[in-house]
Amino acid sequence: MIKEKIISAYELMADKYNELIDHKPHNAYYDRPNTLQLLPPDVKGKTILDAACGPGKYAEILISKGATVKGFDISPKMIALAIKRNNSKGEFFVHDFSNHFSMVEDNSCDIVLCALALQYIEDWTFTIKEFYRVLKNSGTLVISIEHPFNDYIFFKSNKYFDIEHVKCTWKGFGQPIEVNSFRRSLGECISPLTDNGFYIDKLVEPKPTKEFEQLDPRHYKELNEFPAFLCIRAIKKKENSIE
Ligand SMILES: C[S@@+](CC[C@H](N)C(=O)[O-])C[C@H]1O[C@@H](n2cnc3c(N)ncnc32)[C@H](O)[C@@H]1O
Repeated sequence: MIKEKIISAYELMADKYNELIDHKPHNAYYDRPNTLQLLPPDVKGKTILDAACGPGKYAEILISKGATVKGFDISPKMIALAIKRNNSKGEFFVHDFSNHFSMVEDNSCDIVLCALALQYIEDWTFTIKEFYRVLKNSGTLVISIEHPFNDYIFFKSNKYFDIEHVKCTWKGFGQPIEVNSFRRSLGECISPLTDNGFYIDKLVEPKPTKEFEQLDPRHYKELNEFPAFLCIRAIKKKENSIE
């Protein structure tokens, strides 16, 4: 099954991912700065759910700024690393975001963050509905995803409008690892949000920071010519205002 393959891939790469995450260019100098700028500037005292938190790097940053963070991930190794990285600050759970978030109450979060993970589920609807349920009214959802136009080219698709199972081999986290995911159209990234109680407040096609250039000039040039990721901020509409 595809899900088992995704879990195995992350279990295999978890230690290396954790070791590299602080400075790996695509994460540290491309995804994180662009995604974090979509969060409110002052997260002190805010309750944040980090969905698919990996080894807890985002949680570490947000906890250091005074936020209360709950994180979950489908990979038990990632969750063990997130607990270790955060010295028992924050709460971390092994959980699949295609299932009911039983550890998170309705209307309890100021912010939900989901970085570089939604590509691992075929149908986003249930997960987005859960993000909606756990957010307070006017709460903020911030996601980063693989850019649908980049995926369309990278995976040599000729069925833009389909949601397609795709796979590729990652070589940046130790031994080569096959990673399975789902590519989708831009519309399939936006309508699960706007059909389920959110409006899009801001959309960023990120550019890498200067630190990226020093570490990886070739990809720095490429990412300045064409985006690999897309960062979106969506706001929960008041429950009685959904059409
Ligand atoms: C590219 S990593 C991103 C980790 C973290 N958000 C970050 O940006 O550092 C993707 C994460 O999604 C997790 N993941 C994949 N499928 C998942 C699912 N169905 N439910 C929860 N987490 C999942 C993986 O285990 C992995 O830790």
